[in-house]
Amino acid sequence: MLVTQVSLYIVGSLFCFVEKLRNKKIAFRMEFDRVQTIASLSFDKEAIPEEFIMPEKEQPAITTFRGLAPEIPAIDLSDPDQEKLVGLIADASKEWGIFQVINHGIPSDLIAELQGAGKKFFELPQEEKEVCARPRDSESIEGYGSKLLNDPQEKKTWVDHLFHRIWPPPSINYQFWPENPPSYREVNKEYAKYMRDVVDKLFTTLSLGLGLEGHVLKEAAGGEQIEYMLKINYYPPCPRPDLTLGVEAHTDLSAITILVPNEVPGLQIFKDDHWIEAKYIPDALIIHIGDQIEILSNGKYKAVLHRTTVAKDRARMSWPVFLEPPGELVVGPLPEFINKDNPPKFKTKKFKDYMYCKLNKLPQ
Ligand code: OGA
Ligand code: NI
Repeated sequence: MLVTQVSLYIVGSLFCFVEKLRNKKIAFRMEFDRVQTIASLSFDKEAIPEEFIMPEKEQPAITTFRGLAPEIPAIDLSDPDQEKLVGLIADASKEWGIFQVINHGIPSDLIAELQGAGKKFFELPQEEKEVCARPRDSESIEGYGSKLLNDPQEKKTWVDHLFHRIWPPPSINYQFWPENPPSYREVNKEYAKYMRDVVDKLFTTLSLGLGLEGHVLKEAAGGEQIEYMLKINYYPPCPRPDLTLGVEAHTDLSAITILVPNEVPGLQIFKDDHWIEAKYIPDALIIHIGDQIEILSNGKYKAVLHRTTVAKDRARMSWPVFLEPPGELVVGPLPEFINKDNPPKFKTKKFKDYMYCKLNKLPQ
């Protein structure tokens, strides 16, 4: 009898101890890891922690161009004049590396539902969001999280995110798809379904714009195995948006990125030595040329350098879908663009090796 009681007691205390540790870990992560939590504490102080303050040469208040700037091209994807469409998209991809598309075929109600579902997820209590957290030892970027710092000198940025693949079905990891709000999964599946036609149209048009047959770029980027990695960026309101950034200057490592923003401005692109703001066009998709298309085209199409700023009173959100080759696929400049006057400008390597170097800030 006594033995049973003692062992019950021991098991009970052990259980309690583990639970406490677990809670402590969650509490620790909640308090210190998530920008959303830091943001709610910062507002009372009207200041942001030192580790979010960018060096002056990167501060948006100092470096954003305030004059009259040209606008990112906006292109009607439903234009029946294919030659014209190819010309517009090719020019934008060579000169800007970014453009917006309207009349792309994704219903505006569906875009609103995608935004609504993502917004509800980020408004859940912190511990409910942590259910989708990226495990610390995970090799993949999938899951809910904040920027990981490679070295202590690096600055934090004013954003939390959720990453998960939405296509093709075998690549999907539902562990990282929120169950709350209940509509989340259905809406995201529907979005992926509609996205496929836009993806095909973009790849075809970009191929034709380089004088290639329509199927070439998509095939070179992985064909039906191209992975659609969705990211939701949540940029909480920030008491000092003049000093920090949402995402630091970068090019995307994808082939193409297709992004839906909310109505709060913040995307900036670097053009002709200036950081200029992208105009918000309701229901438009923002198309970024990423590193893999730049590489395949041997630099004819440019991966756009971009960054984001945050807002004082409103949360900014965005939903980029990164179209990525499967990890084992070897990507390099297409032979069509290499000759004795045009040597390869980029190395040929597996996409997973490219990604590893990029994420760890190692030379390619
Ligand atoms: C990104 C990015 C831009 C935005 O997440 O890679 O550039 O508008 N986001 O949020
Ligand atoms: Ni980006």
